[in-house]
Amino acid sequence: MDAGITPAKRAKVDVANGTHGHDKNRLPHHNYVEDYDDKEGSSSILFTLPEKIGALAEALKVFEAHNVNLYHIESRPAKGNTSQYEFYADCDNKKGGLHDVVKDLKGNDCHVTLLTRKHQRGSSQRLSASESEVPWFPRKINDLDRFANQILSYGSELDSDHPGFTDPVYRARRKEFADIAFNYKHGTPIPRVSYTKAEVDTWGTIFRELTKLYPMHACKEFNHVFPLLIDNCGYREDNIPQLEDISNFLQDCTGFRLRPVAGLLSSRDFLAGLAFRVFHSTQYIRHGSKPMYTPEPDVCHELLGHVPLFADPSFAQFSQEIGLASLGAPDEYIQKLATCYWFTIEFGLCRQEGHIKAYGAGLLSSFGELQYCLTEKPETRPFEPVKTAEQKYPITEFQPVYFIAESFESAKQKMREFAATIPRPFSVTYNPYTRSVEVLENTGQILNLAKNIKSEMMLLEDALTKLHQS
Ligand SMILES: [Fe+2]
Repeated sequence: MDAGITPAKRAKVDVANGTHGHDKNRLPHHNYVEDYDDKEGSSSILFTLPEKIGALAEALKVFEAHNVNLYHIESRPAKGNTSQYEFYADCDNKKGGLHDVVKDLKGNDCHVTLLTRKHQRGSSQRLSASESEVPWFPRKINDLDRFANQILSYGSELDSDHPGFTDPVYRARRKEFADIAFNYKHGTPIPRVSYTKAEVDTWGTIFRELTKLYPMHACKEFNHVFPLLIDNCGYREDNIPQLEDISNFLQDCTGFRLRPVAGLLSSRDFLAGLAFRVFHSTQYIRHGSKPMYTPEPDVCHELLGHVPLFADPSFAQFSQEIGLASLGAPDEYIQKLATCYWFTIEFGLCRQEGHIKAYGAGLLSSFGELQYCLTEKPETRPFEPVKTAEQKYPITEFQPVYFIAESFESAKQKMREFAATIPRPFSVTYNPYTRSVEVLENTGQILNLAKNIKSEMMLLEDALTKLHQS
């Protein structure tokens, strides 16, 4: 029997998870992101003006001339150009004059970006001045709080074939976990949970069986980290580790962190979390009647399958690369990236010293598939994102095909090359100091990036010189 996630719901793994809350405390100096009030016919616009008296008044006349009312407006100094100001305005575009506003502002040499809402699940769609469509994406880490109201299904809702479907105690417990996640906000500690004896016993059964297989079947990075989790995070047969302790440990290792989820997220939202080195993790455990089976990700899958490798710097970078590639990508590319995620982070194999080892979380948390994947039965192919992204996969049985990465470094490089083929009118870079994504779409921003690289090159040169002298 499969000891991990059953495929029937494995499809939900990559779209797994959800969050909560809606943080209205916007910081004025951060990227502008509107709250989702979905006023019918409303649109938002970003435009840049020179810092001179009367510049805004002149721009506002353009709105008036085309019968576009403003609900809300805010300003900040333009990034990369301190002699300019950037304005964000939320407009009433029922009469449809906004495109003329854009045309006139551009005629006045303004840099203009139009953002319009897409009427589905509160997400929005962004139109650049060139009219190409780019879906909304989080710009700073607390924007992930917005995914709470975009959960595909709440964690306490179980399908009729779920082992806990007829168990009222289990269902009540699942609701407790879902509520924790739903109310979670970025920057706050993840609430600790007292797991019951029955829950710890379930964990213990899985922990005992899987840890027997790891030395032979798991990749070396996984086996390097696992003892550290035992020493630092309470990984033991008789203890279910706390998300908060693990999240703190991961932050010290690679800057990755966990955030609890209340239900299923879309692939787009789930992948976006990885761009910020955030992994959406469940906190509940599978039903005790079937410890070797779960129809959805649970704490055993996350903590045993996923967590160890997020402490590895190369794997962390590879994971973030998939996330960054997804930001603002068209829907068909989200599907391709989700498939790459599936065949790497969930079901990836890698070659190490002439042997094939497992690094995918779906394998490392499944007693059955971890053994099966290293036999002769399944087909193996080299990991090539362009081809891997097209591979179909079954969701009700073990995988017939696995993809082998030569190393996390080479996989990351290949993902980067693949990301460059995604049609987006801009590049993105992650700023770890502000934990925000910077969109590179003008020369000022690119110049700033060049300055940062230059200072890192100087540091590199200095370090090499000192090594050479010693
Ligand atoms: Fe997973």
